Amino acid sequence: MKIAFAGKGGVGKTTLCAWTADYLARQGHTVWMVDADTALSLGQACGVAPAAQAEPLAARADLIRQRIGAGGMISLSPAVDDLPELLGVDVPGPGPGRKRLLVMGTVAGAGGGCACEANALLKSLLAHLVLDRDDWVLVDLEAGVEHLGRGTVAHVDGLVVASEPSHRSLETAARVAAMGTDLGLRNQVLALNRAPEAVLPPLPGLPGCILRLPPLPGLAARQLQDPNVLNLPEAATVDGFVAEMLKALEQGRRQTRLRQPRRPAPRV
Ligand SMILES: Nc1ncnc2c1ncn2[C@@H]1O[C@H](COP(=O)(O)OP(=O)(O)O)[C@@H](O)[C@H]1O
Ligand SMILES: [Mg+2]
Repeated sequence: MKIAFAGKGGVGKTTLCAWTADYLARQGHTVWMVDADTALSLGQACGVAPAAQAEPLAARADLIRQRIGAGGMISLSPAVDDLPELLGVDVPGPGPGRKRLLVMGTVAGAGGGCACEANALLKSLLAHLVLDRDDWVLVDLEAGVEHLGRGTVAHVDGLVVASEPSHRSLETAARVAAMGTDLGLRNQVLALNRAPEAVLPPLPGLPGCILRLPPLPGLAARQLQDPNVLNLPEAATVDGFVAEMLKALEQGRRQTRLRQPRRPAPRV
């Protein structure tokens, strides 16, 4: 399954993504984590040491030139199959599954090429991971609605819209969710973070499936010293939340498939 995490900044997208990958790896799955946020914090959240961080694709001017082409000859379908192995790093964890991290990077900082070339390669790589690989893929998106607007994640099969219980955060969540729906991505859950009991305002577009996570004092205390969000004192709460979220997304995916019109049988 391929899941994207979206929402306003600071609402817990990266944290949820890191927890989900860790949960899945402990269940024995191979998981690709894609850091598509310019803040580049997913590796840190997963406990990857600074020296072992993945090199962002956008910083590889050589690869961008080689795969996309320069001097006006832009390849619309660049070869990207080897890039996950080339650029991905192993993320530490107890296993038995494998966690791999791929960092997309800041397009504006893509040295040596125009931003459109870097962007074209990023998009092709994301599409390859999402469409051609059987592994789990978790995409930690940039804050806001930009990525969804570009259609980068149009083919993922689940969208986690993270939000805090504030009007501004929920407004962004509603916009993200509505944009996802416009792209055909109806399988959505609202991860309402730090909000055990809040009653939501009637914002059109918010996902119907709402899962709540309380504030975690152990995480808050940890974050003062360490960016790693794994192995918390509240591990049972976190695992329970992730399990529920994955169950809701699996269920939503089955229902979405059932609702989709069948293709006509091929003529023989
Ligand atoms: N339920 C929670 N309780 C306490 N702290 C949390 C909780 N959820 C997230 N945080 C903390 O809030 C901060 C922002 O979370 P983060 O995942 O980086 O947000 P985003 O990726 O949406 O910008 C991080 O320091 C994270 O550890
Ligand atoms: Mg983040």
